[in-house]
Amino acid sequence: MADEKPTDGFDALLTEDRVFEPPEEFRRNANINDPGIYERADADPEGFWSDFAKELDWSRPWDRVLDWQPPDAKWFIGGKINASVNCVDRHALGQRRDKRAIVWEGEPGDQKTLTYGELHVEVQKCANVLQKLGVGHGDRVAVYLPMIPELPIVLLACARLGAVHSVVFGGFSAESLRDRINDMQAKLLVTADGGYRRGGIVPLKQISDDALDGSPSVENVLLVKREGLETPFNVVAGRDHWYHELMAQVSDTCPPRENDAEDLLFTLYTSGTTGKPKGIAHTTGGYLVGTYATAKWVFDLKEDDIYWCSADIGWVTGHSYLVYGPLLNGATCVMYEGAPDTPGRDRFWDICARHKVTVFYTAPTAIRAFMKWGPEHVRKHDLSSLRLLGSVGEPINPEAWMWYYHHVGGERCPIVDTWWQTETGSILITPLPGITPLKPGSASRPFPGLKPAIVTESGEPVKVGGGYLVQTRPWPSMLRTIYGDHDRFVATYWNRWGRDVYVTGDGAKVDEDGYFWLLGRVDDVLNVAGHRVGTMEVESALVDHQEVAEAAVVGKAHEIKGQAVCAFVTLKEGVQASDAKVEELRQHVAQKIGAIAKPDEILWTADLPKTRSGKIMRRLLRDIAAGKALGDVTTLADPSIVAKLREQYEDKEG
Ligand code: WTA
Repeated sequence: MADEKPTDGFDALLTEDRVFEPPEEFRRNANINDPGIYERADADPEGFWSDFAKELDWSRPWDRVLDWQPPDAKWFIGGKINASVNCVDRHALGQRRDKRAIVWEGEPGDQKTLTYGELHVEVQKCANVLQKLGVGHGDRVAVYLPMIPELPIVLLACARLGAVHSVVFGGFSAESLRDRINDMQAKLLVTADGGYRRGGIVPLKQISDDALDGSPSVENVLLVKREGLETPFNVVAGRDHWYHELMAQVSDTCPPRENDAEDLLFTLYTSGTTGKPKGIAHTTGGYLVGTYATAKWVFDLKEDDIYWCSADIGWVTGHSYLVYGPLLNGATCVMYEGAPDTPGRDRFWDICARHKVTVFYTAPTAIRAFMKWGPEHVRKHDLSSLRLLGSVGEPINPEAWMWYYHHVGGERCPIVDTWWQTETGSILITPLPGITPLKPGSASRPFPGLKPAIVTESGEPVKVGGGYLVQTRPWPSMLRTIYGDHDRFVATYWNRWGRDVYVTGDGAKVDEDGYFWLLGRVDDVLNVAGHRVGTMEVESALVDHQEVAEAAVVGKAHEIKGQAVCAFVTLKEGVQASDAKVEELRQHVAQKIGAIAKPDEILWTADLPKTRSGKIMRRLLRDIAAGKALGDVTTLADPSIVAKLREQYEDKEG
């Protein structure tokens, strides 16, 4: 972190002075429209959160709301609760039995709908299948599935048994899957023969077989058939079991386990500043309360809403705001398997129009792609059903915000720019759409009950201005640990300004009105198209190639992805740099990690610029990558150029 200044170059943001008040009708009907809530929640955060907790079904009430021994928090101590009961049973057995829970659309256009009543049956059957395969309370289940209805069903079935699900995004490689399975010591892997992506097929079963070659903890594989798919794969007798065959054999009732509020609900791996991804661990009670509360107030979910979150369940956004948050609220959720440009660039708008989506949640990287493709694709469809828009995953630039507001929202829909992380479990900084005047590019204010702050290098709070974003108060859905590595949890998040100050890893500014403007990561994590990519992970993957001597990876501004991966590579003596070698290294990274981590650019260099103490000068590399200030360095064909640049740079820095 030391060579970073989080506030560099972002002053322009604060010249943004447009403000959009909540439309009067929206304000009047919003789930929360009383601005006094901020003060009340601030005065009694525990009371604030327990009011939401009381709206959920507990089989035993909690004795105490919070036990805070920094950095260890326990919420709703003594309470017993089951996530699947709250997401499904209480709707299926109540007024929502015939209400649609999931409206699913596959990339090729196939469709499926599950009512709450039907979901109730599927989840119980699936829980029985998992039990049959030896899964019980506390066991870890790795889930490597495409975006098909079986994915939320499997998660809820795990929750029903008190088993811990850990979803691995379908774009990750066999090696990444294997590392995660081994780290969590998963007993079962749930996968599918394949999934559709951009018209092609992702051979998930083949990749899984590679991963399982070296994952001895996995005893069984539950294999879902993605309907309509023809892709070759092996079935390993005794280990692999067809989902549809087992589902046909089991009973359709499965009593829910009474889980402890602090029982693990799931782990989800995310990139950090070292080579090894972290298994972020979330527990049951607090996570449910956090996602329930934020989905209700931020997305203003009402009985007749059709809610669509376009994120993949392989990421935390899909967990919290496609599965848990909206289902806890009894909402109808649209789920889409594929890419936004398949078969055409209007696919998302076609889905919004056909399903009459009312609340839509997506990422700035998608919005910037839509901008580039042009508004004509949006205009082809009737989007008048939309009433609220959301954004997540990276800072949204004011231009993209305005485009989204104008072209998608028809200037009638508020936009909630929601800041949060895998670690935070639920949204922490966000407008409340019936209360907060919006400033394009700002995630605005903390959700009630929270206390984020901006601090300087030495930990001094900044009233107005920039610095490091921290959280100074515990919240129910906060991560409890890094799976299997509590020391790393303490060292990563709670070791900079005291044990009770959560370090987000983001830089931000706060303005005179108390609005937060997020500025991106201040550590060695990149945000590529809304996905976290650790520079060290990519570096390790590169040096793993037998012809690479050294590598350094930095981010570079990218028009659509926000950041692109830019790698500086020194080849071993005698190895020739070439375009073919660039492609070979890119493929090598894809194979080691997954396509999302593939360097967009590889620059050859005879050496890497280091400080006298041996630290790679990342700022210099970033400036070179950006082509900034150092003359024409669009190509580093001359291998001595970095050495020259370093001299120039050192002179300049004085
Ligand atoms: C970034 C995704 C600005 C931030 C939910 C954070 C954002 C990282 C926003 C977490 C936003 C997320 N504005 N930046 N609205 N939302 N980020 O764990 O850098 O995949 O630290 O969670 O995304 O990414 P993660």
